[in-house]
Amino acid sequence: MAKVDNKAPELNIHHIAFIMDGNGRWAKKRGLPREAGHKAGAAKFKKIVERCCELGIEASTYYVFSTENWKRPEKEVNALMKILEQYLDDGFEDLMKNNVKYNFMGDMSPFSDSIKEKIKKIEELSSGNKFIVNLGLNYGGRSEIVHAIKMLNEKGISGPTEDDISKEMYTKGSPELDLIVRTGGDVRLSNFLLWQSAYAEFYFMDKLWPDMEPKDVDEIVKIFGTRNRRFGGVKNEEE
Ligand code: IPE
Ligand code: IPE
Ligand code: MG
Repeated sequence: MAKVDNKAPELNIHHIAFIMDGNGRWAKKRGLPREAGHKAGAAKFKKIVERCCELGIEASTYYVFSTENWKRPEKEVNALMKILEQYLDDGFEDLMKNNVKYNFMGDMSPFSDSIKEKIKKIEELSSGNKFIVNLGLNYGGRSEIVHAIKMLNEKGISGPTEDDISKEMYTKGSPELDLIVRTGGDVRLSNFLLWQSAYAEFYFMDKLWPDMEPKDVDEIVKIFGTRNRRFGGVKNEEE
């Protein structure tokens, strides 16, 4: 199991999310095909998950493949599927050592049977673990909300409360979202965690995802600790 630095509870951060952007540009800068950027990005993802666990962050959420990413050239989509499957085969065993509990978010139906089976197995195998890792695959914030409405209808819940809706989100079981980090320089959500981001903090960085380092997470978490979160109220010192 990963060593726990326990900085996170001290800084009051329980759930961090990453929009892992910039793989393509990272590869282009090196004269490599975009696929090479995705490979480097996948390797970096593993390191960042490890660091989040070491810091004692209860849940971390990652945007891996969006509902819009199917628009990319077939060659790139196929390469991404290959990297994903490879990752499900090799990478996850290591992360089990970090006591990670996997939760895949999104509509898995378009994926191959073999990917679907691996996902199911990994969720089952890791279900007793401690640190939640939510992975957005064919994930979109809008489609998540539509899915939640369908689930509520199926359960016969009309006039749902905010709590009822939250319980149908793919992130159910994770603490409230504290912080969204986006690498790659763009300042937008790109359809990520629309419901959950209501009172999250945001951190946008120019660094491309494959250039991220675990120490960047330490720095970001420190900066988060300096944010004044009021949630619409007033802090005691301002009264
Ligand atoms: C993020 O990197 C990975 C995915 C969306 C799958 P990009 O592939 O979007 O990289 P850029 O933004 O083109 O550099
Ligand atoms: C967001 O990045 C999706 C993921 C990181 C998986 P994109 O590169 O797809 O987003 P846009 O197109 O810049 O909005
Ligand atoms: Mg991008």
